[in-house]
Amino acid sequence: MTSVNTSNLRISADRLWSSLMEMAEIGKTARGGCNRQALTDEDKQGRDLFMAWCDAAGCDISVDTMGNIFARRSGRDAALPAVIAGSHLDTQPTGGKFDGVYGVLAGLEVIRTLNDNKLETEHPVEAVCWTNEEGARFSPAMLGSGVWSGEFSLGYGHNRTNKEGQTVLQELQRIGYLGPAECRSKPLRAAFEVHIEQGPILENAGLQIGVVGGVQAIGWYDLVIEGMPCHAGTTPMEVRRDPVMALYVILDKLYQVADDFKPRARITFGDIRTEPGSRNTVPERVTVTVDMRHPERTQVKYMEQLMREIVRNECGKLRLAGEVREELDSPAISFNDDCIRAVRNAAGALGYSNMQMVSGAGHDSVYVSRVAPTSMIFIPCEGGLSHNEAENARKEDLEAGCNVLLHAMLEMAAQ
Ligand code: GLV
Ligand code: MN
Ligand code: MN
Repeated sequence: MTSVNTSNLRISADRLWSSLMEMAEIGKTARGGCNRQALTDEDKQGRDLFMAWCDAAGCDISVDTMGNIFARRSGRDAALPAVIAGSHLDTQPTGGKFDGVYGVLAGLEVIRTLNDNKLETEHPVEAVCWTNEEGARFSPAMLGSGVWSGEFSLGYGHNRTNKEGQTVLQELQRIGYLGPAECRSKPLRAAFEVHIEQGPILENAGLQIGVVGGVQAIGWYDLVIEGMPCHAGTTPMEVRRDPVMALYVILDKLYQVADDFKPRARITFGDIRTEPGSRNTVPERVTVTVDMRHPERTQVKYMEQLMREIVRNECGKLRLAGEVREELDSPAISFNDDCIRAVRNAAGALGYSNMQMVSGAGHDSVYVSRVAPTSMIFIPCEGGLSHNEAENARKEDLEAGCNVLLHAMLEMAAQ
């Protein structure tokens, strides 16, 4: 392939767009988004469609014991490590059409483009779908790529349990995606992930491409406060051991922590649940999910320490049992210099305006980067909005990101 000039090669924007729109039909919501949470019937349908497309593109497909899907287009030398493009097909409960899906279908679009042009690469090329990136139905996030990279054991991955008590293993079996391949990293030449930015930086700067140098640190915790259930009408306020009484002070103080660490800190309480969840019973227990982020892991750890102190103090005042359980400790990541350069070179050669940036969101590339040279490509999304049914991206930006992916992959795959 080294003899072939590929500089004029481009992906098909129409085909990429129509694949995205067809996938978006699966789990589509009334407000124009997608609810295709990990290992649901909708996720199965999305995976089946992706597999059928990969099959039609002539790929060798393998599914591993975490349900990760690898669709391989052979290279000239089967012994050489592959260049992969991967992301996820699962969504948030009120997710959009592009988060994750774009990265998976862009990988497929690269393979389709190579097929159209009958181009042979030295290294094999793969489109990859990672299982449960979102962490919405099963915590933590980036689970499939986490097990594959060795961050989590297979047993840990299989035993993650959702709110209904179903495990990842049971749900993989139920939807037919407990594959036979071992879930374990193999040597890779390079790994890329193209994704919508999910924030407003590129749009505000009027730029087409984000060359992603790394990802900020993320801490996930479950805050559990236990008190004493009792009658809402008969129990005087001053004798109650009500976990919600402590919670509202704790949340106020944690928002203050976010303020103290501004502008780069983020703290989110995405799911607050009381039990037994009855209007006229003072709750026995409240469980709150906490998501803390900062570009520096030491700052996340410092915020975590402050949270533990606040919980201890406020629960102590009301004779409540408070506990903070860590669910995810995703460190700040710096991507591989060669892969970053390949993305920057591709964007430059294609004439797309670009800047280097750090990802505010977590991605499968965080774990993939532990075992393989990795980097990411961002494109703008409307209003910087994501994890929202109104999430939107322009066809020409999706095209630009996929063309950068194509040329970054070609640079690494041809050598
Ligand atoms: C992934 O969606 C994240 O939470 O950053
Ligand atoms: Mn994503
Ligand atoms: Mn997401």
